Amino acid sequence: MARKVFNAPAYVKPCVVDVAQKLLRPTNWVFLDGKAHVDYRKGLNGLFTRQALGTYLPGQEEVYYQYFEKFLKISQEEHKGQPTPFMPHFRELMCAVSCRTFVGHYISEEAVKKIADDYYLITAALELVNFPIILPFTKTWYGKKASDMVLDEFSKCAAKSKVRMAAGGSVTCILDGWVKSMIESENYRQKIAKGISVDDAGKPDVVLREFTDFEISQTLFTFLFASQDATSSASTWLFQLMADRPEILDRLREENLSLRNGDRSVPLSMDLLENMKFTRAVVKETLRYRPPVLMVPYLVKKDFPITDTYTIPKGAYACPA
Ligand code: HEM
Repeated sequence: MARKVFNAPAYVKPCVVDVAQKLLRPTNWVFLDGKAHVDYRKGLNGLFTRQALGTYLPGQEEVYYQYFEKFLKISQEEHKGQPTPFMPHFRELMCAVSCRTFVGHYISEEAVKKIADDYYLITAALELVNFPIILPFTKTWYGKKASDMVLDEFSKCAAKSKVRMAAGGSVTCILDGWVKSMIESENYRQKIAKGISVDDAGKPDVVLREFTDFEISQTLFTFLFASQDATSSASTWLFQLMADRPEILDRLREENLSLRNGDRSVPLSMDLLENMKFTRAVVKETLRYRPPVLMVPYLVKKDFPITDTYTIPKGAYACPA
């Protein structure tokens, strides 16, 4: 039943609180249907292939090492081995890894820290019950301000990536990958316009339209939005479950070390990650045992015959849980 709902875009659309459209903007790709949605989707799919994910790993690992050093410093120097509240630091780490993966070094460390801090305001604005208009100094007002700040930062990143990629820069983050695809599409279009044949023009796998800095920014914001809470929830549970089961944590460590032949400095790669059979099983079991996304509410757009005997009426909620 759940799969039927997920795979029925003709009958259902995601249903979010009123303010979500105001924060993410009504023109955001997640609220679009038909061709407008497909135009985005076809450019984004390629950014999450195995090969693409592999190119983001060095940047992600760099962030982890930077924060691990900071954690050591906090516990050894500032708190001298005493119990220390680490969750706020972990939360900042999650945000930094997300930002680094999405917009690379186009964003400053101060901006990442500000986004991590202010993200609470965005989450608070999205509580299930809230007022449909944004009044000054309410949660939704603070949330909108925080979203505007994030959108502004990501727009600036998009502009910088366009300049760097046009100059032949290499892909270091999701934003670069998308911009590179746009540039290849534009080069192809120009060749066709000059009368070069389709065969000789080197048609890219997908031909994309140009997206504005703000359209790119809105899309990156959905990634941050989608990754932030789900990943923080999954990681928090993983952390707690491992703290409760030290024997499982030992096995995780053993597997990681043995796959690197005992050398901790061996960098992460997709091959390495795929060979971590036990580690992957632990992650999957955590997601099964404590799913970060408990339900996904959809609004039924037109009468939806979900079984032979029952049709969900238009206007009802279909909520796979
Ligand atoms: C543990 C981590 C995650 C979990 C459990 C999770 C779960 C989900 C679920 C259940 C949905 C709704 C699916 C549907 O309605 O068909 C969803 C949608 C989405 N997720 Fe995630 N997610 C996670 C991490 C991420 C990350 C890291 C990103 C981006 C880098 C991301 C991007 C998205 C996007 C863009 C959508 C909307 C897709 C659309 O409207 O077509 N998610 N996620």
